[in-house]
Amino acid sequence: MEARLRAFAMPDHVLIFDTTLRDGEQSPGVRLNMDQKLEIGRALAAAGVDILEAGFPISSPGDFLSVQTLAAEVKGVTICGLTRAREKDIDVAAEALAPAESRRIHTGLGVSDNHLEHKLRMTRDEALEVGVKAVRHARRYTDDIEYFMEDSGRADRDYVCRVVEAVIDAGATTINVPDTTGYTTPGEYRELIAGLIERVPNSHRAVFSCHCHNDLGMATANTLAGVLGGARQVEVTVNGIGERAGNTALEEVVVALHIREDVYGITSRVETQRLLELSNLVSRHTGMIVQRNKAVVGANAYAHSSGIHQDGVLKERSTYEIIDPRLVGAAKSEIILTARSGRHGLKHRLAELGFRFGEDRFEAIYSAFLEIADKKSEIGDEDLRELVSADLI
Ligand code: KIV
Ligand code: ZN
Repeated sequence: MEARLRAFAMPDHVLIFDTTLRDGEQSPGVRLNMDQKLEIGRALAAAGVDILEAGFPISSPGDFLSVQTLAAEVKGVTICGLTRAREKDIDVAAEALAPAESRRIHTGLGVSDNHLEHKLRMTRDEALEVGVKAVRHARRYTDDIEYFMEDSGRADRDYVCRVVEAVIDAGATTINVPDTTGYTTPGEYRELIAGLIERVPNSHRAVFSCHCHNDLGMATANTLAGVLGGARQVEVTVNGIGERAGNTALEEVVVALHIREDVYGITSRVETQRLLELSNLVSRHTGMIVQRNKAVVGANAYAHSSGIHQDGVLKERSTYEIIDPRLVGAAKSEIILTARSGRHGLKHRLAELGFRFGEDRFEAIYSAFLEIADKKSEIGDEDLRELVSADLI
């Protein structure tokens, strides 16, 4: 497999295809205005994403305008528009994408029997023919064509192989293998990607892309497994927002590739220091709050509250932190003072505030601290100032 991959000019990094403005914007309750989309698009381009899916141009005049505006205004990144496998969709997307420095048309349709029977009401052969025609039509506008096979995760593997071979022959250069329903496990998804690259005779002419949903909480794990299977593009959203339980989180994949390069052997081009800022921007504009314990960008991701952990981190950060907070643009690790904090954590915070005490005085402050901490979930700097100013001994 490796030799065949190298026969084609594969990217030397994992391509980051960001779909915050398309799949992410499909999150229930989210509606971004033009200025917000532009700000997010510019921030993503500045952070170094490779492809920016700006919307679904035929879906509404507003979406058409957003894609067109981003195509005109956001530079240094390929702008992509989604279409169904229909000529009219593709024509409209091509028009919206026309001002872009570099443009991609993302077309396709379902491949699982479930989608063919219940949604598309087509036979496998009919759907394959529709897909091939769509790719040929899209090639009239650009040679950067991505083909998505919706619900690949639940589809018949032999049929998916047939579709991939036919659409690559028709001119698709990226093959998107969506686990639309978040159904697969990491082992299955890796095997799906690796199997396609291995079995499809012309697979070396395309980049394979992971697009995973998070219904079972495995989107990031599946995407990373896809990279191990040979995928060289990942489709992600900031903070993992998206349909239902969301998509793979951009920040999780980028940091996992960075921290575990020993396992993946390849990283992305995204500037990790911009990740926290991106997360805050998207959260602010979408109104979707990031859970405190969210990996990589959550408020608690670099905070330590138990005495044992605080003692370890204060002696050597790596005892309990595998990610240096500065990697993602956070100032530093935080020591949160609670009833579970030990003497080391309290002494450290008091010293940061400029207070140093002898042994007896400190012990008295520590006892008083524990009494208050049993009543409050967190002890802040003001509480500490009050504590040390009280006459304790
Ligand atoms: O989840 C999915 O299958 C999609 C496709 C439209 C790419 O978002
Ligand atoms: Zn999706």
